[in-house]
Amino acid sequence: MPESLVNRCRSLPAESRLCILGAGFSGRRVAALAEALNISVLTTRRNPESNSRSLRFDTTRNVIPTEAELHGVTHLLSTIPPGRDQNDPVLRTLGAQLCQLPLRWVGYLSTTGVYGDTDGAWVSESDTPKPGQDRSRRRLICEQEWLHSGLPVQILRLPGIYGPGRSPLAAVRAGTLKPIHKPGQVFCRVHVDDIAAGCLHLMHCSAAGQHPAIVNICDHEPAPSHVMQRHAADLLNCNLPEIRDYADAETDMSAMARSFWAENRRVSNDLLCKTLGYSMIHPNFRSGLQHCLEEERLMESLARSAPD
Ligand SMILES: NC(=O)c1ccc[n+]([C@@H]2O[C@H](COP(=O)([O-])OP(=O)(O)OC[C@H]3O[C@@H](n4cnc5c(N)ncnc54)[C@H](OP(=O)(O)O)[C@@H]3O)[C@@H](O)[C@H]2O)c1
Repeated sequence: MPESLVNRCRSLPAESRLCILGAGFSGRRVAALAEALNISVLTTRRNPESNSRSLRFDTTRNVIPTEAELHGVTHLLSTIPPGRDQNDPVLRTLGAQLCQLPLRWVGYLSTTGVYGDTDGAWVSESDTPKPGQDRSRRRLICEQEWLHSGLPVQILRLPGIYGPGRSPLAAVRAGTLKPIHKPGQVFCRVHVDDIAAGCLHLMHCSAAGQHPAIVNICDHEPAPSHVMQRHAADLLNCNLPEIRDYADAETDMSAMARSFWAENRRVSNDLLCKTLGYSMIHPNFRSGLQHCLEEERLMESLARSAPD
C-alpha cells in the first residue's frame, strides 16, 4: 500500500467498523487502505484459505456470516457481481441481517456498462441508463434493489479496473498483446487505488451530508486501448505488435470481447471530482501504469529477497 495513498486519506471515527463483501481485486485494495488507516475491517471470500482472516460468504451455497460476526458494522462495501438470476445475491441472502446493522454508509460497486452505447458521447449520473447487454440489464436491476433497500446506499459506477498485477504490462511482458484499432473507439478506466481512496472520500462526504445516490469513479481521460498498450510497451522498452483493424480482428473475438467493443462512451467524473471535491490519484493511464510498474517491481524485489 503506497504511503502517499495512506497519507492523503482520513480515517473514520474510532468506533467505525467496515465490512467488505468480496475481497477480490478491488475489495482487497479497499481493505488494505482501511487497515493502514487503523480502521477495523472485516472481509469475506467464498473459500477463504485456512490462514486467512476473511469470513466465508458464498451466496450460491447460502453460506453467510453470522450476526455475531457482523456485529457493529457501520460501513459496508459490496463488490459482489450479479448472479445469473435477476436479484442481487447479497440482498437476497444477507439483506435482512444488513437491515439490523447500525449502517451509516453502504457502497455498491456497479459498472458504467449500465449507460450502454453513447457513440462516444460523454455520459453522467443524471443520464438515463440504456444498458445494451444482458449483464448490464441485470446490473441495473441490482442497483435498483440496493437503492430501494432502505439502507444508506451509494451506487459506485466503475469502468475497466486496472492496477498492479492487472494491466497491459503483463501482456506486454508475455508477448501476448494483440492491439486493435477501431476508429473513434475509446475505453474508460480507473486505477484500483482511486476506487479505494474514492470510497473513503465518499464515506466522509456522506457523513458531512453530501450523499448523491449514484457516483461514477473513473479517470479523466477515456482513450483507445492501443494507446494505453503502446504506453505500457514503451515503459518496458518493448515493441508493440502490429495494430490490427477492428474489422479484421472481430472475426477471431469471443462474444464477450465483441460486446465490450460494441459500446463506446466517455464517462464523466465531474460529480466526484468537481462537486464532491475528490482529486484523482491517477488522472490518466500514464500515471496509473507508472505506478503499476513501480509497485510490481517492488513486489518482485521483495519476493526475491524473502528467505525460502
Ligand atoms: N473488473 C472490471 O474491470 C470491472 C469493471 C466495472 C465493474 N466491475 C465490478 O466491480 C466489482 C469489483 O470488481 P473486481 O474486479 O474487484 O472483482 P473481483 O476481483 O472479481 O472480486 C469479486 C469478489 O466477489 C466475490 N464473489 C463473487 N461471487 C460471489 C458469490 N456468489 N458469493 C459471495 N462472494 C462472491 C469474489 O469472491 P472470491 O474472493 O471468493 O472469488 C470476490 O471476492 C464487481 O462487481 C465487478 O463486476 C468490474
